[in-house]
Amino acid sequence: MKKTITLLVAAMATLLLVNTAFAKCPQPRKTPAAPANIAGKDDTAKADKANGKKLYEKTAKPMACAMCHGNGGGGDGKLGKALKPTPRDFTCADTMKDISAGQMYFIIKNGSKGTGMAPMKLKDSEIWDVVKYIREDLMK
Ligand code: HEC
Repeated sequence: MKKTITLLVAAMATLLLVNTAFAKCPQPRKTPAAPANIAGKDDTAKADKANGKKLYEKTAKPMACAMCHGNGGGGDGKLGKALKPTPRDFTCADTMKDISAGQMYFIIKNGSKGTGMAPMKLKDSEIWDVVKYIREDLMK
């Protein structure tokens, strides 16, 4: 009997773990769409990826992206875990494949109303730097 209970508990714990590891991808997403002219924009070609990394991990205002989106981009930053909706998981290709560079730019600049994603106080060139870093180094 004891053995059965132990097995059951172990099975449930495994299910829970598997569930939290995979339930997030694809992520449910109701984020406002950028106007077509902005969604189609992409200024990452001449952007500075190293500066994007610095902004993402440390210096962005009002807060470093990593605090919510996580250093690896998994949407699992210290603050992010408590948010609903959860921060975008940049490593989830199923969701990210439909999100253009211009759409990212639009939300970083304007925020996503009613969520933890506030408008970021960054210059346009800095936004493109961080978009480049996310798209080239964090997205899978
Ligand atoms: C306080 C937490 C927090 C911080 C700091 C934060 N984000 Fe977010 N971010 C979120 C949340 C929550 C969402 C999900 C919004 C939604 O579901 O509409 C999000 C969504 C996004 C998206 C997805 C847009 C889309 O169309 O799906 C991008 C891109 C993004 N954030 C980039 C950034 C960048 C870059 C920074 C730093 C400059 C940053 N975020 C900082 C919480 C945060």
